[in-house]
Amino acid sequence: MKSQLQLLKHLTALTIFMLTPYYLMGQDSSQSPGESQVNTCLECHEVLEVMPEGYSADDVHQAAATSCVGCHGGDATNYDMDESMSPAAGYIGIPSRQDIPKLCGRCHSHIDYMRTFRPRIATDQVDQYNQSIHGKKLAEGDQNVAECVSCHTSHAIFPADDPRSTTYAINIPNTCRQCHGNAELMDQYGLGHDQYDKYATSVHGKALLERKDTGVATCNDCHGNHGATPPDAESISNICGSCHLNNLTYFKQSQMAEDFDIHSCQECHGNHDIQPPTDQMLNTDSDTAICLTCHSVGDAGAATAFAMYRDIETVDSLYTLAQTKLKASQTSGMNYAEIDYQLQQTKQNLIQMRTLIHTFDTEEVKAKGADGIKTAKEAIHLAEMEIQEFQTRRVGYGLSTLAIVILAIAVFLKIRQRDEMLKQQ
Ligand code: HEC
Ligand code: HEC
Ligand code: HEC
Ligand code: HEC
Ligand code: HEC
Ligand code: HEC
Ligand code: HEC
Ligand code: HEC
Ligand code: HEC
Repeated sequence: MKSQLQLLKHLTALTIFMLTPYYLMGQDSSQSPGESQVNTCLECHEVLEVMPEGYSADDVHQAAATSCVGCHGGDATNYDMDESMSPAAGYIGIPSRQDIPKLCGRCHSHIDYMRTFRPRIATDQVDQYNQSIHGKKLAEGDQNVAECVSCHTSHAIFPADDPRSTTYAINIPNTCRQCHGNAELMDQYGLGHDQYDKYATSVHGKALLERKDTGVATCNDCHGNHGATPPDAESISNICGSCHLNNLTYFKQSQMAEDFDIHSCQECHGNHDIQPPTDQMLNTDSDTAICLTCHSVGDAGAATAFAMYRDIETVDSLYTLAQTKLKASQTSGMNYAEIDYQLQQTKQNLIQMRTLIHTFDTEEVKAKGADGIKTAKEAIHLAEMEIQEFQTRRVGYGLSTLAIVILAIAVFLKIRQRDEMLKQQ
């Protein structure tokens, strides 16, 4: 009976706490963030060394002066443990996982309150979360899915641009891996557990995890911060296109854009294991051609692929030849700035051709190829002229050296003749 009464008291406290906007709860709302105030919760917990695990004194909520009571309720001005942590004072204890989104939402879904901290702060996290697979499953009572603190922690929360944050770009793959790399857990849902491992070896993963390049795609760029759904073909193409703008623009202009399911970015590049693309993906003479997973040699798709491949290879081989010639003219120590310029132009053309293949228009690729062939040939021509001129000069130099040597010998002989004449006198 007593414990039931206790439970009822707790539930009432929780309900009142959850329903009351933060700024209406006996808190001094005129207090500006960061202003020092008595916090008996923190003081006592520190003294008694019962601080929550992983607590950081720099936590955003600590900095914004919402601190312990903001989430746990209670009376932060009372040094008496029982009174301070009493349901009568609004204390809720440790929130259950199911209650956490609502708890965070008390403030984070409250536009007026959040805007007192930052005028443009987003307040849609809980709404988005509720629509995600994580959110839906949590509402159904699933205890394994991510709720707010699974990704943010509860006592070391930082803005996403702080390297200490679990939501800092470089740390995100690990934050998701806690659960999505857990085979036993993911087997229960019939989901793979290799997304992290694949991602880590991808172009994006290597750039992020090894070179610390935060401009590449990481888990939340494709899945949303709070959306956590597998994106469909059209939306994923638009997501890729937010960074790879030209590829998407060409793609959208092409005859393929009608049906995103057929030629969406991930059909050819994958999603978690995107590798650096090569020309061989278009070579329908080899078994590495990506197009041959659906097309067969002889059909219009394969023919398109091979035509684009041939044009790229032509420019690429001329480019390689021009590079060799440039090296040869370079060792001659002569002026090669103009050749280098033409070579750079060729390289640009090659890069553009590899992007232009996303038009699926052989004429576009061919036209760009024609420019590339022109500049490559110009570079080769200039380099050959340089080399030839060097050889001509070398012959000239050889001849003049010979003349000097002959002259020197003649002078030497002349002197010796004069010396001998003097000796005879
Ligand atoms: C005078 C000391 C003191 C004060 C003041 C105090 N606490 Fe505690 N608190 C403790 C101790 C000791 C424990 C561990 C009690 C236990 O394990 O039974 C604890 C436990 C907790 C727990 C974990 C409860 C659980 O069920 O395991 C939370 C959450 C908590 N305190 C929050 C607060 C908040 C919020 C305040 C301020 C409103 C506060 N405390 C004020 C001493 C204090
Ligand atoms: C942003 C909300 C938030 C703030 C602010 C917060 N907590 Fe918590 N706290 C939680 C949540 C959620 C849990 C339960 C989940 C967990 O264990 O991480 C929790 C759990 C705890 C626990 C029990 C678990 C443990 O790790 O020991 C204690 C004790 C605790 N909090 C004390 C505090 C104290 C003291 C403060 C102020 C310094 C504080 N909390 C500030 C959200 C918060
Ligand atoms: C009592 C109100 C309150 C509660 C409850 C609360 N927060 Fe906050 N939160 C704030 C305030 C205020 C800020 C600081 C805003 C600022 O200065 O940018 C903040 C900042 C944050 C930030 C950093 C935002 C950014 O972009 O800088 C995150 C992440 C965050 N909270 C997550 C949570 C989570 C997760 C919970 C629930 C466990 C939670 N909050 C509960 C008030 C609250
Ligand atoms: C699956 C992981 C995950 C879950 C679950 C999650 N978040 Fe986030 N949250 C993120 C990531 C990732 C970011 C942003 C990182 C960035 O901006 O690059 C973020 C950003 C935020 C921010 C900063 C402002 C913003 O919108 O960018 C707040 C506040 C926040 N989350 C609150 C919450 C709350 C409240 C919940 C629970 C309803 C929650 N988050 C659940 C991963 C998560
Ligand atoms: C606390 C564990 C946990 C964390 C952390 C977590 N997830 Fe999840 N997530 C799950 C579970 C469990 C499911 C399976 C739910 C289901 O399908 O019923 C899931 C489902 C998903 C799905 C839907 C998969 C599908 O096809 O059904 C996506 C996408 C997803 N998570 C992405 C992420 C991303 C991205 C992160 C990191 C920002 C993340 N998750 C962090 C536990 C977690
Ligand atoms: C470049 C975009 C991109 C990145 C980065 C990315 N994903 Fe995905 N992810 C996708 C797409 C697209 C799908 C949908 C696959 C499908 O349904 O065909 C997917 C599917 C998933 C699924 C559902 C199960 C599965 O394997 O199909 C989970 C879980 C998931 N991703 C988690 C993650 C995690 C964790 C990370 C970071 C380590 C991550 N994703 C990074 C695009 C991405
Ligand atoms: C948040 C921005 C961003 C998103 C979203 C993104 N990428 Fe990337 N991607 C990059 C950056 C930056 C690089 C260059 C990485 C490097 O330096 O190696 C890159 C590299 C690549 C490369 C290798 C390019 C090369 O020349 O080696 C491919 C292919 C690629 N991304 C495809 C995709 C696809 C497909 C998607 C969608 C499923 C996608 N990307 C989503 C930013 C992004
Ligand atoms: C039908 C297959 C296919 C589709 C669909 C496709 N690509 Fe590609 N992509 C390729 C091939 C093949 C290459 C390699 C071309 C080469 O190197 O000769 C490539 C190269 C790339 C490159 C590196 C070259 C460059 O432009 O920097 C990026 C980045 C890229 N694709 C992004 C995307 C994005 C984003 C999408 C979706 C809008 C997409 N791709 C759709 C086949 C495809
Ligand atoms: C995931 C399967 C798939 C991949 C991979 C794929 N295609 Fe396709 N492609 C299709 C389908 C399906 C059609 C429509 C066929 C039809 O209408 O007869 C199509 C049609 C085409 C067409 C139009 C053909 C016509 O009859 O007008 C071209 C061109 C094309 N693809 C080029 C390519 C190229 C180039 C690649 C590789 C870079 C490629 N496709 C990769 C499935 C694919």
